[in-house]
Amino acid sequence: MTINNIITVGAQWGDEGKGKIVDFLSAEADWVVRFQGGANAGHTLCVDDKVYKLSLVPSGVIAKKPKLLVGSGVVIDPESMVDEITRLIEAGLSVSPERLRVSAVAGVILPIHKMLDEIRETKGRKIGTTGRGIGPAYEDRVGRRGIRMGDLLDPAGFEASLEALYQHHLPVFAYFGLTPPPMEDTIASMQQIVPRLAPYIEPSPYLMFHAQLNNARVLYEGAQGAMLDVDYGTYPYVTSSSTLPAQALMGGPASWSALDRHEKGPHFYRLGVTKAYSTRVGEGPMPSQLDDAIGESIATKGAEFGTVTGRARRCGWIDLVALRYVARLGGLHGLAVTRLDILDGFEQVGVCVGYEGVPRDCVLDAQVMSQAKPIFRYFEGWDGTANVRHWHLLPKPARKFLEFLAVETSTELALVSTGPTRESTMVLSDVMGAFCRTTNKYE
Ligand code: GDP
Ligand code: IMO
Ligand code: MG
Repeated sequence: MTINNIITVGAQWGDEGKGKIVDFLSAEADWVVRFQGGANAGHTLCVDDKVYKLSLVPSGVIAKKPKLLVGSGVVIDPESMVDEITRLIEAGLSVSPERLRVSAVAGVILPIHKMLDEIRETKGRKIGTTGRGIGPAYEDRVGRRGIRMGDLLDPAGFEASLEALYQHHLPVFAYFGLTPPPMEDTIASMQQIVPRLAPYIEPSPYLMFHAQLNNARVLYEGAQGAMLDVDYGTYPYVTSSSTLPAQALMGGPASWSALDRHEKGPHFYRLGVTKAYSTRVGEGPMPSQLDDAIGESIATKGAEFGTVTGRARRCGWIDLVALRYVARLGGLHGLAVTRLDILDGFEQVGVCVGYEGVPRDCVLDAQVMSQAKPIFRYFEGWDGTANVRHWHLLPKPARKFLEFLAVETSTELALVSTGPTRESTMVLSDVMGAFCRTTNKYE
């Protein structure tokens, strides 16, 4: 069965290896579309002995074929976008305006948003944000005073909107005896940056409609993770956007006619990316966290430090209660399991299969999760999975563990990753194999 559209999302708390998986699937895609979040995302991609760090530009940029869209659901810090584009061009990649389009409806993050983010973190409830101004920029967007990428093309209109936005926020600064970043500085820096970004700005929401009516193969790239979803995650310890697959339809946007045109089976395949264990950075509950030598060992072996902020990530065994919840909410068809190799060498590998006294279908809000006592089931450990790319070459206990994840979440095992490179990836689902025209399942 072939499929034209894949939506990838993080199925945990972010940093699952989405960037690597999107790059792997990109080779035969026509478009790779980022549909939410901003430069709070940080992806590390290891391709052909080079390491690339991405935040806003879709992870399809390294593959030669796909065009790239930063969709309407994203919030963009123009300065960091220009920096990222410059870095990628210097690394020899094609990031021309013909290849990369940026939705005119995408929100703009301004210096004032970053300062508001910091104020909230230091003087209000600490969420442990990335400090990139994400929350305040999305608030302004839904408060209808936000500035959108298209607005940057009209300097007079931009200045008037900026003034109104400042007026709204000034009382907060006054309350804390602080001064916002000077408005003139923001105007001056936009005057410098906008000419560089202008050619990328895409006014038409119909871009993907046309592509999809022509049967384009589209890969939608989610950032963050489903447990950080603004509505269904561990609120308020979440990010400020919808991170579930449904957001791809509005945050691209995608063509509804393409959604209708399924012949056999799903036409928008929803792929959840999960590590073989759990990590979380920032505040908020994580029931399967291990504050012991094993947790430390996972952190050390996995070098679990954030790409964006360098903060240490909390580590623990994989949480199947959370993953089942995400699989249902996100309508996941398949799982891409990454970082199996990091679990090499443990005598036993744990899986959180339930929370004490919590019914199987319980809503996983922050309150339930902060009190949850994990029930672990242990699998025999394994060794030697690093860079293995064939199912039958994986140690039997590792295969049993992987099969258990799929059964428990009612999904299929679509991909398994055993190292950071493209080569250390196995394709186990026919749909994935057809999309990226790779069939190492059968080699
Ligand atoms: P993302 O934000 O979801 O794209 O994930 P990050 O890039 O923040 O973190 C994932 C890290 O794991 C990156 O450094 C990847 O290069 C790396 N990675 C991805 N898959 C694997 C894998 O299977 N094994 C190992 N050892 N590293 C991996
Ligand atoms: P990628 O795409 C991991 C977390 C922050 C914080 C919360 C809110 O690389 O997986 P925000 O700055 O969004 O207001 O922070 O969300 N967070 C991430 N954690 N990976 C990410 O992105 C994240 N983006 C945000 O740590 O807890
Ligand atoms: Mg990351």
